[in-house]
Amino acid sequence: MYEKLGKAAQYIQSVKITKPKIGIVLGSGLGVFIEQIEDKTIIAYNDIPFFKKTTVEGHEGRLILGKVKGVEVAVLQGRLHAYEGLPMEEVVFPVRLLAILGVSKLILTNAAGGINLNYRPGNLVIIKDHINFMGKNPLIGPNNNEMGPRFPDMTHAYNPEMNSIMKEVSNELGYSIHEGVYAGVLGPTYETPSEIKMLRILGGDMVGMSTVPEAIAAKHLGLKVCGISCITNMGAGIIDQTLKHEDIKHEAMKAMNHFTALLNNSIEKFGKI
Ligand code: HPA
Repeated sequence: MYEKLGKAAQYIQSVKITKPKIGIVLGSGLGVFIEQIEDKTIIAYNDIPFFKKTTVEGHEGRLILGKVKGVEVAVLQGRLHAYEGLPMEEVVFPVRLLAILGVSKLILTNAAGGINLNYRPGNLVIIKDHINFMGKNPLIGPNNNEMGPRFPDMTHAYNPEMNSIMKEVSNELGYSIHEGVYAGVLGPTYETPSEIKMLRILGGDMVGMSTVPEAIAAKHLGLKVCGISCITNMGAGIIDQTLKHEDIKHEAMKAMNHFTALLNNSIEKFGKI
């Protein structure tokens, strides 16, 4: 795996010599953030050795290198999901690659369904913790001790300092923001109403099909991780609705001003810690 990562990193350095500080993974419908990046170098996933192509509509599949508020960033637009049938090792390959490129902090973003009854579509939620309901883990198998420990600590999987910066930035911008627990499920079906009830009882505030494997792999590598969920719909059974991927992408657009400003200003501050 290290060899493949090295080759992928070598290819990227051959396109542009880069040492990004902050990595960002953009979730469904959150690609508008790309407009904020200056000095862009865009590399299609297809061109990166050993990189798997995403099969999901609305997930673009490009790595964007550039700067946000003067801070060097590497942005993954479009992610890989376990429900696409990929082994977890492939799902987290892009995040590991960012770490090899030099990223020390990672911002994971996603579209999620609201479980907490105080949430509304268009709300942003800082991920304070997650529950892995995927029944899988990217660290299963022999441990690569060079990457990280066999049994990584997950007490502060989502970095408290980064979280308080995001909260402060959001307040300064005049937007309220929630903090919640992300329940990561495998998908690709959306949940049943009973599953949403179960997830609420077990402590989930929002639900989605990504982020958890990436957070685990990043934490294993010693990165500082934070996450933002954009609530695009209420979980099944909470209100009378049917869930469509198209609608979910559309709802994500409504939060774009808050999302973009939050990311911009947080990146500036993350560049200093
Ligand atoms: N469930 C799972 N994943 C999701 C949802 C949902 O309701 N909305 C956006 N991603």
